[in-house]
Amino acid sequence: MADKKIILTGDRPTGKLHIGHYVGSLKRRVELQNSGLYDKTFVFIADAQALTDNIDNPEKVRQNVIEVALDYLACGLDPTKSTIFIQSQIPELCELSFYYMDLVTVSRLQRNPTVKTEIQMRNFEASIPVGFFTYPISQAADITAFKATTVPAGEDQEPMIEQAREIVRRFNYIYGETLVEPEILLPSNASCLRLPGTDGKAKMSKSLGNCIYLSDPADVVEKKVKSMYTDPTHIKVSDPGKLEGNTVFTYLDAFSRPEHFERYLPEYPNLDELKAHYTRGGLGDMKVKKFLAAIMQEELGPIRERRKEFEKDIPAVYEMLRKGCEVARETASATLDEVRKAMKINYFDDADLIAEQVKRFSQE
Ligand code: TRP
Repeated sequence: MADKKIILTGDRPTGKLHIGHYVGSLKRRVELQNSGLYDKTFVFIADAQALTDNIDNPEKVRQNVIEVALDYLACGLDPTKSTIFIQSQIPELCELSFYYMDLVTVSRLQRNPTVKTEIQMRNFEASIPVGFFTYPISQAADITAFKATTVPAGEDQEPMIEQAREIVRRFNYIYGETLVEPEILLPSNASCLRLPGTDGKAKMSKSLGNCIYLSDPADVVEKKVKSMYTDPTHIKVSDPGKLEGNTVFTYLDAFSRPEHFERYLPEYPNLDELKAHYTRGGLGDMKVKKFLAAIMQEELGPIRERRKEFEKDIPAVYEMLRKGCEVARETASATLDEVRKAMKINYFDDADLIAEQVKRFSQE
C-alpha cells in the first residue's frame, strides 16, 4: 500500500470553474489521470470546506456542486478512471479531522499564510468561524483518508499540504507508521501558477468579473479576450509595447504552443519572435488578441461541447457522483479503521486489550 502512487485533489464549489483553475490544476489532473502512472485518482468537490466561509449562502454551494461536476466531466475527468465524489458525503473525514485537531496548535494555524490572507479578504478578523479557522486540518483529513501521495494544486495550497505533512509526521511518530505524507504537484509553467484576471489583476475572481469560465459561450470568450488588459502606454501600433503585466502575453505564455503559430499566425515562428516584435513596436494589440482568441477557442471549444452533452442528462451526473461517493467512502473507512487501530481506540475488536485487562484485574 505504502508505495502506491495516489492522486487526490479537489475544488470548493463556490462558482463555475474558470481557465485559472484549468491551467492551474484541472488540465494537469486529466493528463495525470490518463498517464497510467498512478494507481488511483480521487477528485472531489469540497462542499463542506466551501461552507466554512459561505455559511450565509449555503444555497450557492449546493447549486455549484453540479456546476463543478459538469466542468470536471467537460475537461475530461473520466469516472471510469477517477473517483469523483462530494466531500460532505464522507463522514469518515469528520472523524479523522477530530483526531487530527489534537495534533495541531492554535498558533500553528494562525501562522498559515493562506488562512491569514483569506481572513483578511473575507473581513473575518473580528469573528472567525472555528470551522474556517480549522479547515487546514480538515483538508489534511481529505488528503490522508485516501493515502494520497500527490496533490496537484496551485501554489496557494502549499501551506495546506505542509500542514498535512506535519500532521502525518506527528501522527506516525505518536502512533506508529500509518499515514502517508503527501506532496504537492505545482504547474510546471510559471504563468500557469497564477493566471491573472482579464483586467490584469493578480487573481481571477468572480466578484471582480475578470474570469473566463470554461462554460462561457464562444462569443463571450471572444469579447473577453478582445477587451483584455494590455499595456496602457501602447497606444499606436508603432509604439513599443511592454510585456510585463501584459495579460494577453501572460495568457499566451500559458496557452500557446508552436503549432498554434503554424495554424493561426504563420508569419511568426514562435512566441519569442512575436514578443520581440511587440517590444520593438509595429505590432498592434488587436492582432495579438485575435491570435489569443483563436487559441482559446481551440482549447475551450471541445470542453464547451462536452459540457453541453453532459448537461442533457443531469440525473446521470448525480448518479456518477453517488457511485463515486460510495467508492470513496470504502477507501476512507479502511484508512479510518487503521487510524483507530493505531490509536488503540478499536476497543471491541482488540482481543489483546481484553486479555490484558483480564490479567490486570486478576492480579489485583
Ligand atoms: N482548498 C482547496 C481550494 O480552495 C480545495 C481543497 C479541499 C483541496 N481539500 C483539498 C485541494 C484537498 C487539494 C486537496 O481550492
